[in-house]
Order: sequence, then C-alpha cells, then structure tokens
Amino acid sequence: MDHFLYRNGALHAEDVALADIAATVGTPFYCYSTATLTRHYHLFTEALSPLPHMVCFAIKSLSNLAVLKTLGDLGAGMDVVSGGEYLRAKAAGVPGSRIVFSGVGKTREEMRLALGGGIRQFNVESEPEMRALSEVASSMGVIAPITVRVNPDVDARTHEKIATGKKENKFGIPIARASEVYAEAARLPGLEVIGIDVHIGSQLTELEPFEQAYLKVADLTHRLRAEGHDIRRLDLGGGLGIPYERSNSAPPLPLEYGALIKRTVGDLGCEIEIEPGRLISGNAGILVSRVIYVKEGEGRDFLILDAAMNDLVRPSMYGAHHDIVPVVEPEPAIEAQPYDVVGPVCETGDTFAKARPLPPLAEGDLVAFRSAGAYGAVMASEYNTRPLIPEVLVKGDHFAVIRARPTFDEILNRDTIPEWL
Ligand code: LLP
Repeated sequence: MDHFLYRNGALHAEDVALADIAATVGTPFYCYSTATLTRHYHLFTEALSPLPHMVCFAIKSLSNLAVLKTLGDLGAGMDVVSGGEYLRAKAAGVPGSRIVFSGVGKTREEMRLALGGGIRQFNVESEPEMRALSEVASSMGVIAPITVRVNPDVDARTHEKIATGKKENKFGIPIARASEVYAEAARLPGLEVIGIDVHIGSQLTELEPFEQAYLKVADLTHRLRAEGHDIRRLDLGGGLGIPYERSNSAPPLPLEYGALIKRTVGDLGCEIEIEPGRLISGNAGILVSRVIYVKEGEGRDFLILDAAMNDLVRPSMYGAHHDIVPVVEPEPAIEAQPYDVVGPVCETGDTFAKARPLPPLAEGDLVAFRSAGAYGAVMASEYNTRPLIPEVLVKGDHFAVIRARPTFDEILNRDTIPEWL
C-alpha cells in the first residue's frame, strides 16, 4: 500500500496534487511520501518484535538527506556502502552506533572515516579486507566490531545482476570456509567478532531462498559458538521484493518474512539486524514526467516523455517494469491503447515500456511512474547533459523540494578547461 491515490480525478501524493507540484518545480521530478516511508519502516519493526532488532535502511536505494532524517528520527539504523553514504547518514543526524558499513571494497580511508566518527559494525567480506581493517583500527588505537559476510551458495531466483548469494558471485566468504576465517579474525588485534552477516540478493519474491540461507546461518552460529566465538548479532541483509505490477501476484509481506526469521534464527538469543532498501523506499516514490510529443509509429504510437533513461535507468538496465499512470484519472469507459513509452535520449535503449496499454494521451499531459523510489534518483546521471531531476518530499498537505534541479551554469562550471588549451 502507498499514499499515491486519485482524488477527485487527480493523482495525489498524500494530500498534495501532483499537478500542483509539477506547476511549481517543473518536470520531470521524483516525489516521495513520508507516510509510506514511515509505514514501511514500521511494518519491519512490527514483524521483528519482540526479538531484539534493528532495521538498518539500505541507503543505496534512496539516499536523500531528508528521507534519511525521516527514517532516522523513527529510530532506524542505516546500512552504508561507501564513505559518502556514511557521511550522508551522519549528516541526517543518525549516530554512528546505528550505522552498519557493508560493501565488498571498503578502502582504508573509508574505514578510518567510520572508525573516527563511530560505527555499529563493519560487515567484512574478505580476508584482505579483514587484515586492512585490523591495521587501520590498531593504528587509531581502537577496536573495530565486525561480522563476516558469508556466502551461503543459495539461488535467490532474482535478476542475475542483483543476485549475490551464489558461490560464483563476488560477495562474502564461502560459508564452508567460515571456521578458518573467523579463527583468523579472532586473532587479529584490531577486531572484535560480534556476529554473522548474510545477504543473498535483491527483489526476492519468494521466502524459500531466505529460509535456506537463514537455516545455514543458524547452523553456522552453533558451529562458531562451539569454536569459541561470541556470536551475538545476526545481520540478515535486505532483499525482500515489492509488487512492481499491480496486476501481478504480490511478494511475501514483511510480517511473513518476520515470522520466517523467528522460525529460523529466533531462538539463538541473537540481536537481529536487517538491511531493507527497496521495500521501504520503492513504493514510497514516483517519478512524474510530461509528454513532450506523441509521435506516430509503425503500428503504434510513441509517447515521448521529458524523463529518460538517465533519470530512471531500471527499465533499460534490468528490463524492469514500472507501472505508468496518467496524473489525470482516466474515465473508466475510456479504452486503452498501446504506446511505446520512450525518453529523448539518443539511443534505442531509452525505452521505458513497449506496447504499454494507456488511455489516450496528448502533448503536455502528465504521467507518473510508480514504484520509482528505490534505485531511481540514486542511479540517475547527467547523460546527454540532462540535469539531475529534483526530488520532492510530501508530508500531509505540504511538500518541499529536497534536492533542487541544478542550473546549466552549475553543470558547466563543474568542468574546467586547462589554461594550456
Ligand atoms: N544489503 C546489501 C548488502 C545489499 O547489497 C543490498 C542491495 C541491500 C542490503 C538492499 O537490498 P534491497 O532490500 O533494496 O533489495 N539497482 C538494483 C538493485 C541493487 C541492489 C544492490 N544491493 C535495482 O534497481 O533493482
């Protein structure tokens, strides 16, 4: 459920008409709903209660400071994968004690930054990284709390580009080698082993792969404890999928996911951590765009929008589906017609949808891409020197621009022409 609904024939974000936002900020723009973000965060905290837990929002899915502050103020932790994301979490007021540092290639500078500013734990992904972290921590006179990310060799049954839990993927250490790696971690002077981390992929639409992975983590917990490690925290990653197509069957609910966690690892006496991104931010955001032209094609018409693949890359990158709806509610009797929905970028890959049934649309009409909150704005680029588009946050009946559209001067001034040219 989200808070983007038609009211009196006009699509609203909570109590604000999207056409009003478009008139103020121009198009295209991203728009997020505070109520949806809040609701989704609470679904997870309720699903995990009464287990001791922390829901760490995966910043990579949507990293605007206003969104992070919204979630941080509710008590959310943050999962970061770069020094930049770490600084975002801090700038949004989240204390280091609620920030988890994930990622396969943390640099020594990033480790120093997080150890200096405070960190809940590092999720370490390899032996070289473990040794580097121990060195950095020792040189600063501190101890780094760590989990080791294990690769459980489970097929997440999702898009190959976002599956991470198979043994051929670059993530984590093979679970079969865990004893050896934990033994070395325990010997390193700058580290304190506190738990286990696992993450098998994103946009999972079934619980079964999670179940396989978490059962392996439960086994490993017993084994590592028997080997003398004080395993007291389990980071179970993110990855729960969202319904992108309203007409399709829905993925499992957070409540069902929570029940699975309780069933598989709930009796180990560990604090549970999860790192959801998409389920919190995905359906909390939409992308609003205007039709520039309707162009007659062979067999069907092209809807040429002012948004393009540089603004929302998921369709061209993963073949992802996003529902597209008109901002003015169509009359129920109106017959849909198939359009190829495209952007103005100069490549054929700049196609959002082919033969998508939509009510008849005309130049100047507004449309909204649903489920665009996660991996939308954060993956945008300025390809074709198209400015990054604004982000807007709605709360009740008010809205604010939380990232402004840059001017062309700002964009051009980032380049420098050397004096010798
Ligand atoms: N934790 C780790 C270690 C991750 O790598 C990820 C996502 C998450 C948590 C959050 O997963 P989520 O709950 O959002 O599924 N750009 C792609 C998705 C990339 C996911 C990368 N890792 C897309 O647009 O579908």
